[in-house]
Amino acid sequence: MKNWRRTRTCGELNSESIGESVVLNGWVHARRDHGGIYFVDLRDRYGITQLVLGGNISEAVKLSAEDVIAVRGKVVARDESNVNKQRPTGWIEIDVEELEILSKSLTPPFEVSGGDEPAVETRLRYRYIDLRRESMQKNILHRAKFISAMRRAFDDEGFCDIETPILTKATPEGARDYLVPSRVHPGSFYALPQSPQIFKQILQVSGFDRYYQVARCFRDEDLRADRQPDFTQLDMEMSFVEEEDIYGVWERILVRTFRDAMGLELSAPFQRMRYDEAMERFGSDKPDLRFDLELKDVADWARKSDFGVFRGALDSGGRVMGLCLPGGAKLSRKEITALEVVVKEYGAKGLAWWKASADGGAGPLARFCAGNLAGDLMALVGAAEGDLCLFVADRQDTVRRSLGELRRHLAAAPHAGVARREGWAFLWVTHFPMFERDEEAERWVSLHHPFTAPENWEFWKEGDGDLSCIASRAYDLVANGWELGSGSIRIHRADVQAKVFEVLGIEADEAQEKFGFLLEALSFGAPPHGGFALGLDRVTALTAGLDNIRDIIAFPKTTSAMDLMCVAPSPVPLGQLEEVHIRPAGRALVRAFETTAPEPSTEASSGSSRV
Ligand code: AMO
Ligand code: AMP
Repeated sequence: MKNWRRTRTCGELNSESIGESVVLNGWVHARRDHGGIYFVDLRDRYGITQLVLGGNISEAVKLSAEDVIAVRGKVVARDESNVNKQRPTGWIEIDVEELEILSKSLTPPFEVSGGDEPAVETRLRYRYIDLRRESMQKNILHRAKFISAMRRAFDDEGFCDIETPILTKATPEGARDYLVPSRVHPGSFYALPQSPQIFKQILQVSGFDRYYQVARCFRDEDLRADRQPDFTQLDMEMSFVEEEDIYGVWERILVRTFRDAMGLELSAPFQRMRYDEAMERFGSDKPDLRFDLELKDVADWARKSDFGVFRGALDSGGRVMGLCLPGGAKLSRKEITALEVVVKEYGAKGLAWWKASADGGAGPLARFCAGNLAGDLMALVGAAEGDLCLFVADRQDTVRRSLGELRRHLAAAPHAGVARREGWAFLWVTHFPMFERDEEAERWVSLHHPFTAPENWEFWKEGDGDLSCIASRAYDLVANGWELGSGSIRIHRADVQAKVFEVLGIEADEAQEKFGFLLEALSFGAPPHGGFALGLDRVTALTAGLDNIRDIIAFPKTTSAMDLMCVAPSPVPLGQLEEVHIRPAGRALVRAFETTAPEPSTEASSGSSRV
């Protein structure tokens, strides 16, 4: 074909185009042989158009799935009986006059056009084919649209987009760093940023009072459905602000982004709730507010009852709490036992249950519910006849955590019949604790990061050495039970920052070595400032209806942090390691020896290696 370049895409032709002569390019999605006449579904990013190739197109017989072709032909109406109302192009087809095969495809490892969902490993190994599938195209386009709408919103709010370095120094976000050895400075390493935290604070010192960035972050941590080793944040920071200013900007930006990218109207302002309240009522710092099932303290009842397990927990300073599943009395014993397994996973020793009734009810707790005790318990947990009450007695953190997880589990279990409100339940969780105890290391660590401001600048005068009750000015944004982002008002006073390092057991020398440049910057006129980072993979996955962020990322890694397509990480030859002054030991040495590669050259030192 002389002019093979497309004049139209595969998604735009309809009845109005009938009679037009067009050139289309795309992939062979499906091919059907009707005795010498071939029907081909031609696919590109925009849609699918049906081609009809008659006996005059001899090449048609050579076509197979995923070949890339160009066709010239006429748009014709389909017979009434052949109209496909599911497709925008379903009223027409192309009567092909000329065909050129631009590129042949091997037989793909799985069908792009449908069939069973391929295994995850196969999808990741052949990600370029996986990304052709309709669902993946939708996901990637959704992400692009969402991020682009959010960028526009930030630009319109007067934020300045500033890039910060990827080769940098460690930033303390609580995960391990990915390290990059330096060739020119033997024995020295860059760290990939866990977030642009320190740079964005320094930008405030420099006067960029509204900064934002679509920032790549790198964290070497255990991976889960909502965690990847490299991921993207919409990172921002503002000067001369307090919490409400940051909440306000984000509410306006999210309302606009949801409207522009998805045509959805969010209602703002979002609800705010202190961390303590979220933990007490929902057993979680990211409660899903689309359903109730609140945790209730039943200590008053437990003290009156003879149930040893409950009394014992209270006597040793623990708590007894429960939740009430409306209509749950219909659950079988087997189903209730399965719920006990859930709480035990989170450390509870058991799950005491009770089918509520004023005349004593049923279940292990029934024999402790004589007389008024049944009515008292019903009142405390808000139960009615026919409800199922579930209790855990233990240390406070175990009680909250296990019941919080049970609450999530029940809401997701169809047989539990939990009523769920439609739509988006956004929530600011505020006043997180400043510090938490790392029992293993026997020291205090920052719950957010060490630059977070305490509620009270002279925080060390509170709590008599028990730092767990010191509240910080950190906040999270939660939606439908997902932590979408975090932020805080920062410490802008060098003296308070030094005090926080002291409390965290970071020696002055160490603080100087690690963050001296930040401390110095703070001492040259730092405005009060604060910021926030939204996990873009999470928010786009959630809004696309996915439960794993992997499918909203074009080239994600497996749970063991492997890129199966390009096979990374991979061993590098010894010579290349020597260039960066690294001598491997043990298994790493064997692997380096086994790796054949050309002598170190300019290319080798730019990081490429053979697989
Ligand atoms: P934080 O560490 O809470 O805060 O991260 C902010 C948000 O980034 C997302 N996120 C991740 N997404 C995918 N994979 C990961 N491994 C991963 N880790 C974090 C989450 C999380 O809520 N510098 C601070 C922000 C600030 O204080 O301004 C920070 O990075 O959605
Ligand atoms: P037992 O007295 O061991 O027969 O337990 C009676 C009921 O109490 C069972 O349903 C157990 O699952 C439950 N149970 C045991 N320990 C706890 C606990 N710490 N909190 C809540 N329920 C418990």
